Amino acid sequence: MSILITNIKSLLQVRENCPSFIAGKDMKTLPTIENAYLLIENDTIVNYGPMEDASSIEAETTIDATGKFVLPTWCDSHTHIVYAGNRELEFVDRINGLTYEEIANRGGGILNSAKTLQNTSEDELYNQSIERIKTVMALGTGAIEIKSGYGLTPEAELKMLRVIKRIKKEFPVKVRATFLGAHALPQHYKNNKQGYLDEIINEMLPQIDKEQLADYIDIFCEKGYFDLDDTKQIIEAGKKHHMPSKIHVNQFNAFGGVALAVENNALSVDHLEEMNDEDIEVLKGSNTMPVALPSCSYFLSIPYTPARKMIDAGLPLALATDYNPGSTPSGNMNFVISTACIKMKMTPEEAINAATINGAYAMGIDKQYGSITRGKKANIIITKQIPSYYYLPYSFGENNIETVIINGQIIA
Ligand code: NIG
Ligand code: FE
Repeated sequence: MSILITNIKSLLQVRENCPSFIAGKDMKTLPTIENAYLLIENDTIVNYGPMEDASSIEAETTIDATGKFVLPTWCDSHTHIVYAGNRELEFVDRINGLTYEEIANRGGGILNSAKTLQNTSEDELYNQSIERIKTVMALGTGAIEIKSGYGLTPEAELKMLRVIKRIKKEFPVKVRATFLGAHALPQHYKNNKQGYLDEIINEMLPQIDKEQLADYIDIFCEKGYFDLDDTKQIIEAGKKHHMPSKIHVNQFNAFGGVALAVENNALSVDHLEEMNDEDIEVLKGSNTMPVALPSCSYFLSIPYTPARKMIDAGLPLALATDYNPGSTPSGNMNFVISTACIKMKMTPEEAINAATINGAYAMGIDKQYGSITRGKKANIIITKQIPSYYYLPYSFGENNIETVIINGQIIA
């Protein structure tokens, strides 16, 4: 199966030799080819260039992209898209004055979602989750990381991870799975945190490893959840099972979690709404990707990750949704990109780099995703007719996507 896309107004994020990620002032550059073509064969990008070089190319399907932009699909490197039910009642409680913390302290929040998930069958959980997967694919997401962490028992965590594995198999979207058993302390371990960590490390992890259910490990490193010592234990246990870490850190408090993650070669540190100068300093020159989740800041009315300060200090930055029932009930990467431009003062070029190649790096798939490069996977967004690519973040809340191709398949 071959697809030729012709008369592309501008082909974005074209990189012959794509670096693993883009950092600092380089993020301001988005390489493009004007009036371009793109050729896909099966699941692979095989060629592209200016239209005048396309005259002799034939393909089974031709798509005329006159007036339209073509770019790589979004790489959403942080989601909790597998969950059961919703939490719109807590949303209204927050409108009426309760804080996220107060809701969690009365047994709501993550524990509320865990209770619902424990009482939901694996098939039902799969069915609820794939509706969200279909939605985000149509919105341009071609690769997604999905975390467990709403199970909090060996049985329910495995159920979540098996659902993720099934999504991996059934959908063209690239899926990476992360084990987040240490998302919250379950009620029955209320006074025995180490007991729960031991259960994660000695019971859940070996089984997950045996069934090859997770690529990465995560922990919610936060006051009231898990501290630095817990985080170290989890990162080290992950290493023993060949699972690099991606850490929830600095969402509400900065207390050294970023340095700990960097020291331990974490693949990413995510949230970072609260960043002090030392956090920025330790990230410099490291292999750890900072990941911002602006939809979460928007939904919870908490600070935005200081993207300007971080990028101006020479750091890379990735953008992801955090799609989950509590802090971000949205998987729309287009909204994330708009919000990053509007609220975090990222330029459109920085935001697109952050949502494509840097997102790919933050889930370990940068060799095959995140740019228009010969040999990479055919994961492509074709926009509607729009005046410029600035229009994508500018027209926030609008859907400017006409066609999505994932793994060489035309999705929508
Ligand atoms: O990434 N911060 C921790 N976990 C999720 C939210 C969890 C929830 O409220 O359900 C997050 O924002
Ligand atoms: Fe999260």
